[in-house]
Amino acid sequence: MNLLVVGGGGREHAIIKKLKQNSQVDVIYALPGNGGIAADATCIDIAATDIDAMVEFATQHKVDFVVVAPDDPLALGAVDKLNEKGIPAFGPTKSAARIESSKVFAKNLMKKYGIPTASYETFSDAKDALSYLETCPIPIVVKADGLALGKGVVVCMSREDAVSAVKSMMEDKAFGESGSNVVIEEYLEGPEVSVLSFTDGETVVPMVSSMDHKRANDGDTGLNTGGMGTIAPNPYYTPDIAKRCMEEIFLPTIEALKKEGCEFHGCLYFGLMITKDGPKVIEYNCRFGDPETQVVLPLLKSDLLGIMMATTNKTLSQTPVEFSEESACCVIVASGGYPASYEKGFPIKITEETLRHSYIAGAKLIDGVLVTSGGRVLGVTATACSLRRAIDEAYRLVQGVSFEKAYKRNDIGARAMRAWEQ
Ligand code: AMP
Ligand code: GLY
Repeated sequence: MNLLVVGGGGREHAIIKKLKQNSQVDVIYALPGNGGIAADATCIDIAATDIDAMVEFATQHKVDFVVVAPDDPLALGAVDKLNEKGIPAFGPTKSAARIESSKVFAKNLMKKYGIPTASYETFSDAKDALSYLETCPIPIVVKADGLALGKGVVVCMSREDAVSAVKSMMEDKAFGESGSNVVIEEYLEGPEVSVLSFTDGETVVPMVSSMDHKRANDGDTGLNTGGMGTIAPNPYYTPDIAKRCMEEIFLPTIEALKKEGCEFHGCLYFGLMITKDGPKVIEYNCRFGDPETQVVLPLLKSDLLGIMMATTNKTLSQTPVEFSEESACCVIVASGGYPASYEKGFPIKITEETLRHSYIAGAKLIDGVLVTSGGRVLGVTATACSLRRAIDEAYRLVQGVSFEKAYKRNDIGARAMRAWEQ
């Protein structure tokens, strides 16, 4: 079979490495992939958002199945366009992808179907939003409606912060049209859990739970990033919470999308907060999370391609989806300065052992040498029979990679360890 994976980060590298385990796979094209992915797939220089070129490439190269991994091509309708040409693709249609591409859509859906989430108001007029802020409770959370590279959420600890967040989104257009509408929502407290799930629109199968580490620095301080590391499973996702999530959140969401005429196929990501009143939805993503995927897929024992195909042809209930009982830890190695400005172009030295455990995100090949080309450069993942061992092993392996100004957190998994020990 010929496969095409759209995207070019650590998440896509993890997907490709897993898909390669299926012996029916002949060729994997990555569009555009990156210098590290090139070791496992044929990289094609077409942007993930160039949908017409993607469809043409898939047609010309007799691609049997496409995996659309990032949010922007999904929001642009990549799956719809591929399906129009008779090419099956993993991922939601444009209309189902609104669950991520429009926060207003997601919040209204939750309200209509009684799915637990933070209470909220939506605004399309800056004056109305600003006058609401004069009396609302503080802290408060301001969210741009559309996609904003993970930066469209501002947790405001003061009224002044909230006013400047609204002004920057709605008046200064910091995120362009994504900030034309905003959601202002209740501040929730509690540990966060990421649950990625496979769904074919009717059956929903949660994957092993995980925990992201979004802040740049140790102790969960510093700027928000795309994620500096992950662990799985998440200790806060107890069997009791898992049961509540299935009954109160996962199934109702799948049913709600179906009722709204936009049945969801693919990976639906539930960003949850375990509050004192139970689990609540913080965000939905219409795709695999990054770097959650880098700990979740290494623990998947079943065939990923078979599961992905089952989500498109509605046979998920008859398809085995099994996860190992082990734990996993992924440590991201970033360019110093990330998520603010950073330098690129440094050669990466990496041992063969570490490379085998790595998912490359921001690197390109120059004359056969891997050099840094992005903020998050790579993730190093270890799996082991306990979380403690997985963390120790990931940090041992991470010593096998170096480049100028490399930066990593030194406490990935520390919070989860404290929770297990409680
Ligand atoms: P998001 O980009 O939607 O994942 O939001 C980024 C981060 O902001 C989340 O991981 C939470 O830590 C935080 N956040 C989002 N919504 C809320 C909320 N209603 N209450 C408290 N924190 C929130
Ligand atoms: N790690 C969170 C995300 O992929 O959006």
